[in-house]
Amino acid sequence: MKKRYSNNFAQHLTGLDRPVAGPASEPTSPRAGVTRRAVLSGIGATALLGSLRPALGAEEQSLKARAARHGITFGSAVSAASLKDFPELGAAIARDCAVVVPENEMKWGWTENVRNRPDYKASEVIARFAATSDLRLRGHTAIWYKNIPAWTKAAISGPGGHDLLVKRVHDVVGHFRGRVVEWDVVNESIEPRDGRPDGMRNWPPFAPGDIGLIADCFHAAREADPDALLFYNDYGFEYDSDDEQSRRDAAIRIMEGLKKRNAPIDGFGIQSHLKVGNRFSPDVFRQFLADIAAFNVRISLTELDVNDQRMPSDIEERDDQVADHARQFLDVAFDERAVTTLLTWGFSDASTWLNSAQPRKDNLKQRPLPLDENFAKKPLWHAIAQSLDNAPDRP
Ligand code: G3I
Repeated sequence: MKKRYSNNFAQHLTGLDRPVAGPASEPTSPRAGVTRRAVLSGIGATALLGSLRPALGAEEQSLKARAARHGITFGSAVSAASLKDFPELGAAIARDCAVVVPENEMKWGWTENVRNRPDYKASEVIARFAATSDLRLRGHTAIWYKNIPAWTKAAISGPGGHDLLVKRVHDVVGHFRGRVVEWDVVNESIEPRDGRPDGMRNWPPFAPGDIGLIADCFHAAREADPDALLFYNDYGFEYDSDDEQSRRDAAIRIMEGLKKRNAPIDGFGIQSHLKVGNRFSPDVFRQFLADIAAFNVRISLTELDVNDQRMPSDIEERDDQVADHARQFLDVAFDERAVTTLLTWGFSDASTWLNSAQPRKDNLKQRPLPLDENFAKKPLWHAIAQSLDNAPDRP
C-alpha cells in the first residue's frame, strides 16, 4: 500500500485523531475587517482571532495542526549542525512541524564522500531527531548536480555515468527504506539559461532531448522503497518573468516525458524560495499549479523562505513585507487542492543559507523564516497560519 497524505493521514501525523472544526467552516472569515498589520502581528492576531472563534489550545494552534485540519502537512528543513548549535530549535520544530527534511545531510557529498564507503552518520542524526520527536522524514535529495563527491565528477560524464547515478538513487533511497515519506529523487535539472532547446541543465548526464536517465532514477527509487512518494523538485516557477516562464515550460516538458515513459512519479516539488520585490502574478502561478496537477501528481512546496535582500534595514517593515509577500503566494498555492505539503527551508532566522549565499548589503542578517533568531514567532509565522486556516479542505 502506498502512503498517501489524505486528510486522515495528515491528522495522524499531528497526533490529532478526530476532525477539528476549522475556520474554513466558520461564518466569519478572519480576513474580514482586519488590517494586515493586525492580522500578522503576534498578540494582536491572537486577540482578534479569539473574538472570532473559540480559543484553541496551544497544540491545536500549531502550524501542523492548522495544516492537518485541511489535509495539508506542514514541516521544515533542519541541519544536524543547527540542532546542535541552537538547543531551542528542536523543540520549536517539534511543536509546529509534522515532517522534517535534512537540509544537506542526505546529499551525495555527505553520504558517500569516499567511493564505496557509505557514511550516513549525519543524516541519521536527523532521522533520529525525527523518530524521537514524532516527526515524519522527507528525503532530499538523491540526484543533484551540486554537492556531489569529487570522485564522481569524471565518472559521471563517461559511459558509466548513467549506471553510477542510478546506483546512487538505489543506495540512498534503499538505506532509508520505510522511513521516508517523500523523496526528492531528482533536484534542479532545469536551466534554460544554458541554452539547450529542451531547457535542461547542461550537466553531462542529462543527454540532450532525452530524459531517460531521470525516468530510470524514478524507477530505481520505486524499487528501493515502494512506499515512499517520489518527487521531481526544482526552483524558479513562482514569478511572472520570461525566465521563470521558460522554466515552467521546461517543467511541463519533463512531466510529459516522465509520464510518457511510465516513470513512477507521485509529486512535483516547488521549492518556493521567494524574494520580496519580485513580480508575483496570481493568475500565472495558479495556471502553473493547475498544469502540474493535471499530470495527476501531488504538489509540495518544499523550501519556502523569503529573501529580504532588497528591503531597507527597518526590521518591522522587513518582517511585514516578508509576511505579506508569502501570504499572497500561499493563498494562491493552497487554493490548488493538489498542494498537500508545505516545508520552510529552516525554521528560525538563527540559521539560514541566505546569509552566506545572498547576504544583505547593509550586513544585517536576513529575516526569511517563521521564527526570529530568539525563536519568537514573526509576522511570517502568522501569515503561514492564516493561509493554512483559510485553505480549502483537500479531498
Ligand atoms: O560543513 C561545512 C563546514 O565544515 C565548513 O566549515 C563550511 C565553510 O564554508 O562549509 C560547510 O558546508 C556548507 C554546508 O552548506 C553546511 O553549512 C557548504 O559549504 C555549503 O555549500 C552548504 O550549502 C548548502 C547548499 O544547499 C549546497 O549544498 C546550504 O546549506 C543549503 O541550504 C542549500 O540547500 C539548497 C537545496 O539543497 C536545494 N535547493 C536550494 C537550496 C538553497 O541553495
